[in-house]
Amino acid sequence: MRIAVVGASGLVGREIFEVLFHREFPAQEIFAYSTRRSVGEKIRFGYDQIEVEELKLEEMGEFDFIFSALDRESAKELVPRLKEKGVVIDNSSAFRLDPDVPLVVPEVNPDRAKEHKGIIANPNCSTIQLVVAIGPIHKEFGIESLHIATYQSVSGWGREALDQFNYEVEFVAVGEPPDSKGSVFPRPIGANLIPKIGEFGDDGLSEEERKLQLETNKILESEIKVFPFCVRVPVRIGHGEAVWLRLKKSASRDEIIRLLESSPGVVVDRDYSTPIEIAGKDEVHVGRITETEEGVFLWIVADNLRKGAATNAVQIAEILKES
Ligand SMILES: NC(=O)c1ccc[n+]([C@@H]2O[C@H](COP(=O)([O-])OP(=O)(O)OC[C@H]3O[C@@H](n4cnc5c(N)ncnc54)[C@H](OP(=O)(O)O)[C@@H]3O)[C@@H](O)[C@H]2O)c1
Repeated sequence: MRIAVVGASGLVGREIFEVLFHREFPAQEIFAYSTRRSVGEKIRFGYDQIEVEELKLEEMGEFDFIFSALDRESAKELVPRLKEKGVVIDNSSAFRLDPDVPLVVPEVNPDRAKEHKGIIANPNCSTIQLVVAIGPIHKEFGIESLHIATYQSVSGWGREALDQFNYEVEFVAVGEPPDSKGSVFPRPIGANLIPKIGEFGDDGLSEEERKLQLETNKILESEIKVFPFCVRVPVRIGHGEAVWLRLKKSASRDEIIRLLESSPGVVVDRDYSTPIEIAGKDEVHVGRITETEEGVFLWIVADNLRKGAATNAVQIAEILKES
């Protein structure tokens, strides 16, 4: 198969190469595209190195799949044109809520992928790990409402964000206040917490919080009341989510554990996992499963670059290549 990765030099783009190799995707020819500033950079693809080329649509050939790891604004402009060159699996938020674009998490709604009209959207990282864990619970017991507090790593905001974090922690290590001039974050992120991911809307919710509400219900085809609160934390890779579910039918802790143990893509922890432990893994870890009078508590952790982006995108291509 002929594969292109657009936005190849970014964090998600690089991870897509890693996942394609790791899952032995039949990519006979693979190309890496980014802007001019990344031309010549080398991307690891198993034992090979793929050189980044400048994206020039008029010079591109045709592909079986094009993985887009562009930012939202570039994706808005380029993805509709890339679709003329091959089926696009887009990681950005540009088309996720478009009724003509399926929003797919393979463990939850794989068949939607086959309804595509040239573009399939990969959901937001915090939404993917949430629906992998709660999808089976919703199917079995029905979820009435969901409260969620997220603890999201800096790599979720891209390469510049990770570089900024790595720079600021050098100050923290020597006991100095971090230099955050020109940062992509609204406040210092070294040894800090920022309760703002994306811009705030008129109702006070951030863009990330809005994504959790809308994307969760689009994927689950539900009307769950979602109450989110998203926080950026000084962690390199891996998002944590503290989730409290109110169910329509009551469920015991043992029933939830048994259900999740047999659910695809989920690992049930005896106690809990942390971001450091799950970095580089493809599964969603669920721990701290607790039954209370008010509902069920869960702690959900996953690698935002793997299952939260690259792995999910490659799984979508796997569904389509088999159909
Ligand atoms: N990071 C995550 O955990 C995560 C998870 C889920 C979804 N996403 C989404 O995935 C997308 C990529 O995220 P990321 O974290 O990988 O961001 P990133 O590290 O900032 O990478 C963005 C990439 O897009 C390229 N690019 C930008 N404009 C371009 C253009 N006009 N033509 C060609 N290439 C262009 C950049 O190339 P240059 O390096 O040459 O500028 C870079 O390779 C975003 O939409 C993000 O919201 C990210």
